[in-house]
Amino acid sequence: MKLVVTCNAQAAAPISIGQGTPVRPTSVLVVGATGTLGRQVVRRALDEGYDVRCLVRPRPAPADFLRDWGATVVNADLSKPETIPATLVGVHTVIDCATGRPEEPIRTVDWEGKVALIQCAKAMGIQKYVFYSIHNCDKHPEVPLMEIKYCTEKFIQDTGLDYTIIRLCGFMQPLTQTLSPSRRPADFVAGVLSGVAPRACFGSGKRHDLGPADIPMGVC
Ligand SMILES: NC(=O)c1ccc[n+]([C@@H]2O[C@H](COP(=O)([O-])OP(=O)(O)OC[C@H]3O[C@@H](n4cnc5c(N)ncnc54)[C@H](OP(=O)(O)O)[C@@H]3O)[C@@H](O)[C@H]2O)c1
Repeated sequence: MKLVVTCNAQAAAPISIGQGTPVRPTSVLVVGATGTLGRQVVRRALDEGYDVRCLVRPRPAPADFLRDWGATVVNADLSKPETIPATLVGVHTVIDCATGRPEEPIRTVDWEGKVALIQCAKAMGIQKYVFYSIHNCDKHPEVPLMEIKYCTEKFIQDTGLDYTIIRLCGFMQPLTQTLSPSRRPADFVAGVLSGVAPRACFGSGKRHDLGPADIPMGVC
């Protein structure tokens, strides 16, 4: 799918958000930039001429590939709210691709961390907040992550931020790649264990063979 872009980094004039420093509409912060979807969003945004900053947790092996691509990397951790505000300075749009890793407590990042990020975005005059949610999350409150996603959708709407919410089903590209004839079953297991294969596929009787590269950024 071709992303429709109404502006590019060269053409965009700075706009004023009323108080504070004018920001370019092309300045985006990708949260969760090292993830399956996040890195695809970073790649696409750079290709489209956006000025991309990536919020990345401090790590022993730095996410050099993001810098090599041309993005700026800033360190912060959603579970440490005091680290968030500095990452938002000069940013027009936040693209939130983050989610807690399976081994981490679900509420810490996906609820408490997101609340902190969204509140900060509101307080700092962020112009647009893009949030990736889960298909049918409103219908499955018994599933903790889906309940949190639905609550987060409502929380964003209540802030008055300009927002785009994109509800996704499971990413099938890693699975179909892993199951291709050239792969061995052991590779599939390794893929699941390493988190490369999708954790779940949510749908309503329809098949959605979506890969993360097919998913829009939701900026325009
Ligand atoms: N995968 C699917 O099939 C699927 C289906 C429906 C919806 N979604 C949604 O799509 C979005 C992207 O999913 P994904 O599969 O690409 O996720 P992912 O591969 O698990 O990546 C998660 C990202 O969040 C970051 N993160 C985790 N905890 C953090 C923290 N405390 N502070 C800052 N960053 C943190 C991770 O950074 P580290 O590298 O440091 O861990 C990583 O970059 C999520 O909102 C998810 O709920 C995904």
